[in-house]
Amino acid sequence: MKFQAYAATGPGEKLQPFEYDPGSLGKTEVEIKVEYCGICHSDLSMLDNEWGMTTYPIVPGHEVIGVVQAIGEQVNHLKISQRVGVGWNSKSCMSCELCIGGNHNLCSKAQGMIVGRHGAFADRVRADAAWTIPLPTTIKPEVAGPLLCGGVTVFNPIVQFDVKPTDRVGVIGIGGLGHMALKFLHAYGCEVTAFSSSLDKEAETRSLGADHYVNSRDSQALEKIAGSLDFILCTVNVSLDWPAYINVLRPKGRLHIVGAVMEPIGVPIFPLLVGQKSISGSPIGSPETIAKMLEFAARHNIEPVVELFPLTQVNEAIEKLRHGKPRYRLVLVNEG
Ligand SMILES: NC(=O)c1ccc[n+]([C@@H]2O[C@H](COP(=O)([O-])OP(=O)(O)OC[C@H]3O[C@@H](n4cnc5c(N)ncnc54)[C@H](OP(=O)(O)O)[C@@H]3O)[C@@H](O)[C@H]2O)c1
Ligand SMILES: [Zn+2]
Ligand SMILES: [Zn+2]
Repeated sequence: MKFQAYAATGPGEKLQPFEYDPGSLGKTEVEIKVEYCGICHSDLSMLDNEWGMTTYPIVPGHEVIGVVQAIGEQVNHLKISQRVGVGWNSKSCMSCELCIGGNHNLCSKAQGMIVGRHGAFADRVRADAAWTIPLPTTIKPEVAGPLLCGGVTVFNPIVQFDVKPTDRVGVIGIGGLGHMALKFLHAYGCEVTAFSSSLDKEAETRSLGADHYVNSRDSQALEKIAGSLDFILCTVNVSLDWPAYINVLRPKGRLHIVGAVMEPIGVPIFPLLVGQKSISGSPIGSPETIAKMLEFAARHNIEPVVELFPLTQVNEAIEKLRHGKPRYRLVLVNEG
């Protein structure tokens, strides 16, 4: 049976109906009937081949919520009809040092859901069972998709760098990833500062969990809060006044970047030496961290703020994301 999807054939092209034969189901694979799929900025970057790794036709979509339709013969922990989620990765090798050590997201053979294979802007999608995570029943499926990529991408650094509830944390860019970061960090107990270039988001950032609001492009405003934050999580994909952000960190502080900034980051080394400060980056989380994040979200009633679009209106949704309009994540609904 063919999968019914939406694909683009070149950078900037509109998505068109597209069907393909997925072949036989692998022994460790799961086939999912897609119910919802969030639209991450990475889908847009892949559509436009911004990272030079797109193969066309591309079917985007890697914030999947759906129900298990079929399982491979070696899959024994998932059941038909079970509701599950899948994010950026569709599989990893399961045998390297990193996979065995629980760092599957760092596996050199980890497969991106939409890199050289077809994603979930479709009625069906497949992924390896290890990367197919059961969705807690208390999380509404229509809002859950964005947690599977954007959500875990901002939750993972809390785990990796041992962010503490007593820490003062900043989030730069209050979009899809950033708004979920505000919610997670607030629930975690941190004092949270939202750095946004959209002045009209100030009141909303406070309702999302921010204690303070600062214009992310205002270097003088950054100077006023010098030496105040333990951890800054950057979700934007553009260059900012990086030395000013290093200056906002307290000694031992960290500027952690998850946004796909394409230009090199120029910062003077002396403030890093003197204050023992760090700059780092990370991809999405391991299957274990995704499950942990979902459990945390369920416990604290953390829901992404979403706007739903039928899958048939995928091009309207993509245009809205292209113009920076979402408040805060667009989710496609497969009504079939
Ligand atoms: N590391 C990973 O594994 C991973 C995973 C998922 C996504 N990503 C990447 O993370 C980035 C964010 O993704 P997203 O889905 O959250 O995107 P998004 O919803 O478009 O949000 C990005 C936010 O960045 C800010 N921004 C945009 N242009 C700006 C500018 N010129 N100056 C200052 N701020 C600007 C805006 O926030 P304000 O309006 O508040 O300024 C915007 O809402 C993308 O690069 C995506 O590819 C990385
Ligand atoms: Zn993503
Ligand atoms: Zn591996």
